[in-house]
Amino acid sequence: MQLFRPTYEVEECVEAVRKVLSSGWTGQGPQCKQFEESWSAFTKAKYSHFLNSATAALHIAVRMLDLPKGSNILTTPLTFVSTNAAILYEGHTPVFVDVNERDLSLSFDDFKIKAEESCARSALWVHYGGQVSLEFWKMLESKREDFAVIEDCAHASGAYYPDGSRVGSRSDTTSCFSFQAVKNLPTFDSGVICLSSLAMHERAKRLAWLGIDKDTFTRTNTSQNELYKWYYQVSELGWKYNGNDVAAAIANVQLKYLDRDNQVRREIYQCYKKNFEGQSPIALVAHSLESAHHLLVIRVKNRDEVIAALKAEGIAPGVHYLPNYEFPVFRPFYKRGSCPVSEKISSEIISLPNHLQLIRSDIDRVCDLVIRSAK
Ligand SMILES: Cc1ncc(COP(=O)(O)O)c(C=O)c1O
Repeated sequence: MQLFRPTYEVEECVEAVRKVLSSGWTGQGPQCKQFEESWSAFTKAKYSHFLNSATAALHIAVRMLDLPKGSNILTTPLTFVSTNAAILYEGHTPVFVDVNERDLSLSFDDFKIKAEESCARSALWVHYGGQVSLEFWKMLESKREDFAVIEDCAHASGAYYPDGSRVGSRSDTTSCFSFQAVKNLPTFDSGVICLSSLAMHERAKRLAWLGIDKDTFTRTNTSQNELYKWYYQVSELGWKYNGNDVAAAIANVQLKYLDRDNQVRREIYQCYKKNFEGQSPIALVAHSLESAHHLLVIRVKNRDEVIAALKAEGIAPGVHYLPNYEFPVFRPFYKRGSCPVSEKISSEIISLPNHLQLIRSDIDRVCDLVIRSAK
């Protein structure tokens, strides 16, 4: 039994990709544009730009903070490497904030302490497992207007904020989503950055296309001056982070099913929750109804034994994540003991199978094994 397993609307995706291949335009083009419009309509984000990954989105977002090299940025240790890589790509310093025990998102109390100690003026906040923590909400409500927040929404496609609005819709943050193969909206690899100002949107587009001021599709199809269709300028160096129409065609199909799929994830979570009720050695990481339920995480004291018991029965658990300060590239930015909750829970967390093809008996079997092996 796999930990994650993407579910594609295969026939519809194949038909959409077939059309793209037949059209003769597979690069960044009309499918990307259509997805950007649909994603903005879905999330109520003001501007969306389709990219090759959330890693690209995060890197662009950090660049657009326009901070002097070596600036402190508050972040979580409990994330995929991409989040903190984006900080290092730009020569800045990750300041690790501790997580809260309830939902493993950042702790707002520690956030305030680390913000004051480091004088950081910006933060990267991961919606761990697909839900927006109330800690994030408290942080937003109390933050100064000039404090910049980037939301890492890689797990949170289709999730809602506590006020019922869709994640990605805020005008005071930049949001980065992943449509990598096992995410809630699976393509093969792609992502999107959501921005609230036209100037930022235009700059993000340039940064994602080597700094070039016009994408090739627009240049080819809308240039007034036939003789100068080839002409463009580069005033700030960017990267090759653009999305393409093959990925966008799949994303356009999958987006139609995102809410339906997230509802199935919600039901899967409820099954796990019911099965683990009253099982005191097992602590299920709590999710609210607004969550996108990307990860299903439990904590047990004998993590390695439980993993071994699951593996022996052909079930593939995961660990999200090894705290990033354990990796040599991030270690110099961490003082042991400064994130005690993260240090404690990192040897207790297990991600259990969580995907749309699980049936009730799969969940019961996983739970039964966990209950029998957890101490
Ligand atoms: C929390 C988090 N941030 C960022 C990323 C990067 O996403 P992508 O693979 O689209 O670059 C991931 C991917 O797993 C992730 O889990």
